[in-house]
Amino acid sequence: MPVIDPMLPDEERIALLRELSADHWVVRNAVGYSILQYPDVVAILRDKRWHSATSRIPEMMGITDPDFVQNRRVSILGAEGEVHTRLRRLVARAFSPRSADRLRPFMREVITDLVEPVAPSGRADVAVDICEPYPIPIICELLGAPREDWQLFSRWAEDVLRIFGGNVLEELDVIKRARAELDEYSRGLIADRRNDPRDDLITDLIAAEEEGDRLSTDELVMMVDAVIVGGTDTTRNQLGCTVGLMTEHPAQWKMLADQPDLAPRAVEEAMRYFGAVRGTARFASEDIVHRDVLFPAGSLVMPSMALANLDPTVFDDPGTFDITREPPAQPQLTFGAGIHYCLGASLARAELQEALPILARRMPDLAVDGAIEWKPSTTAIFGPAHLPVTFTPT
Ligand code: HEM
Repeated sequence: MPVIDPMLPDEERIALLRELSADHWVVRNAVGYSILQYPDVVAILRDKRWHSATSRIPEMMGITDPDFVQNRRVSILGAEGEVHTRLRRLVARAFSPRSADRLRPFMREVITDLVEPVAPSGRADVAVDICEPYPIPIICELLGAPREDWQLFSRWAEDVLRIFGGNVLEELDVIKRARAELDEYSRGLIADRRNDPRDDLITDLIAAEEEGDRLSTDELVMMVDAVIVGGTDTTRNQLGCTVGLMTEHPAQWKMLADQPDLAPRAVEEAMRYFGAVRGTARFASEDIVHRDVLFPAGSLVMPSMALANLDPTVFDDPGTFDITREPPAQPQLTFGAGIHYCLGASLARAELQEALPILARRMPDLAVDGAIEWKPSTTAIFGPAHLPVTFTPT
């Protein structure tokens, strides 16, 4: 099994992994194993003996604060076994494609409001002006938080998401304060909806019932947190990656403006070719033999969705970006696979499908103005920090 030199600079390591993925399904890295090919990435994500490493993030970062560690354990992102199955069963309907569809008109309104101020000038920083703010009003509307609280939400989301940054230990107090404020706010919102049900996610989650079982208030609060942690940075970065990619493919950008019906295919293809979530992590809950390799209990593996998405045994001509590509027999993996498959996939798809054709129409002849500034390549959720563009004013 090849071993990756931990001292290799990130860019070189990523390039080497891509090269190795042609002949190897697994390589050793500094902390465990990277999984490089589609069938193995899917097999491991579907195998319940491999547990989400989310609950171990605090420990791996050297955080010992008991509140913090406990909080990760009960999150749907880190839960396993019966606890996880029960949560998914209770919340599934609230995250169905139909629930996401009811927000589509609102999504069009939000993206139009963001592009309108920049469209007449013919220039923008797409990452800052459009991608950054886009998911916040949608998550607020989804949850049923009133418009006057959008700013508050934006700040909490930003602070809570510092958990994915490089300075967690220094920022722990800020993260904890944001968590506590959000927690209190969520409890207020839940109490309001118990008395006054509306057409929103919190009401749906309160009403969710399976054979007499319901979510507790603590679980409802956890779901609000999971929606913010899972649903904001992912969507904004995937939108940024996609627009960045489109600057290299102007004919396809124009095609999307002329044929908005291509949006669903364009979203799947952009997520396949350039996903914002490139990998995840699992640890072995017991000794596991996969193919001919024994992974002792506790082993950490990193399934690479990004490399699996370029696997030539699954995708024809995987190195070509083509928004007219026939839907492949097997899906792109940027939403993951198995029991932790993205709960917000329908919502994220709808957000991207609504935003892209409107941007393509309002920002024709898109070109990078200078250079795109990408986030560090090790960032868990990758995308542009700055995406300066020029286009024909509209
Ligand atoms: C393009 C945008 C998105 C991408 C690329 C994405 C990606 C992912 C991935 C890869 C996972 C699985 C992680 C793993 O297996 O370790 C996941 C899980 C999850 N996502 Fe998303 N996500 C996106 C948008 C959203 C949205 C909009 C929401 C909420 C409204 C959301 C909520 C969640 C939740 C709650 C989970 C945990 C599910 C579980 O553990 O059962 N995501 N997402």
